[in-house]
Amino acid sequence: MSRKPIKQKADPETTGHEWDGIQEWDNPMPRWWLWTFYATIIWGIAYTIAYPAWPLVTQATQGIFGQKNRAAVAAEIQRYEDANAPVEAKLVAADLTAIASDPELQNYTMNAGGAVFRTWCAQCHGSGAAGAVGYPNLLDNDWLWGGTIEDIHTTVSHGIRNTEDADARYSEMPRFGADELLEPEQIDQVVNHVLKISGQEADEALAAEGATVYADNCAGCHGEDGTGDRAQGAPNLTDAIWLYGGDVEALTESVSNARFGVMPAWAGRLSEAEIRAVAAWVHSRGGGE
Ligand code: HEC
Ligand code: HEC
Repeated sequence: MSRKPIKQKADPETTGHEWDGIQEWDNPMPRWWLWTFYATIIWGIAYTIAYPAWPLVTQATQGIFGQKNRAAVAAEIQRYEDANAPVEAKLVAADLTAIASDPELQNYTMNAGGAVFRTWCAQCHGSGAAGAVGYPNLLDNDWLWGGTIEDIHTTVSHGIRNTEDADARYSEMPRFGADELLEPEQIDQVVNHVLKISGQEADEALAAEGATVYADNCAGCHGEDGTGDRAQGAPNLTDAIWLYGGDVEALTESVSNARFGVMPAWAGRLSEAEIRAVAAWVHSRGGGE
């Protein structure tokens, strides 16, 4: 099929390009388009003169308007800090146990505490505070070191088993296997005892032997009945809540090589108001002991 090329009134030049018989006219750009294009170039140049734009060696050009986004952000943060200063002062002065019954402090700690948690705690304890292996769930009413607001406040302020804070909570479970404190058979036995007291299927004969091993080696920390000891951060072994896992493999690892969960101290890193806010937030979620 062949078509005659469409003719215009004043037949313009072609660009000389041709594809399969289709030619390209060399039409000028429409005026409005061209002027808009020039306007954008002028706008662009004016903008880079007026505002910070061109990267130089140490910083970008400043712009004649002196616009400083960092300063604007800092001013805005300052504005919020000033607005929050009275309630933060009240929070720091308040009795920890009185926070929950004061609507103003309650409202503030739920918002600010949640924000602190998402920024500083969620990496380890999970965004919803449900924890992970080795990082305790803070939503349940099962506590290693205590679940009153004072306990939580102490844990958050000083941390656990860290070397940075002399007041950090501290305890150390012996490595019964690695340091050859118990024979492998004895570890098997005590693991079966733990399976039994936590309501799981266990080898009865091994568990019976394990009860003696337990009484001699474990009861001092985990309690005679296995319900744990908060003074030493020794977990309750009779519930179905595990920090490191409750199957044979995880229990054998816990007993053989022990665990050494570390949490950083936050005093000094966060303000007292932030620590109180996040402690109140955790307390409100964790069963409110
Ligand atoms: C680097 C990881 C890490 C970060 C960050 C962290 N934690 Fe922890 N947290 C831990 C570990 C590990 C434990 C358990 C230590 C143990 O085994 O006793 C713990 C324990 C706790 C406990 C004690 C729970 C109990 O059952 O007694 C509380 C409360 C707590 N964290 C709150 C917080 C808050 C609030 C923040 C943020 C300000 C935070 N943690 C940040 C790792 C972390
Ligand atoms: C000196 C005190 C101490 C002694 C003795 C001790 N434990 Fe522990 N145990 C702890 C502490 C503290 C933890 C928590 C460690 C952590 O959070 O990192 C723990 C954790 C555990 C866990 C992990 C629990 C979980 O939730 O995952 C098991 C299992 C366990 N111990 C069993 C035993 C058995 C069995 C013995 C005796 C053979 C024993 N422990 C002796 C202090 C002790």
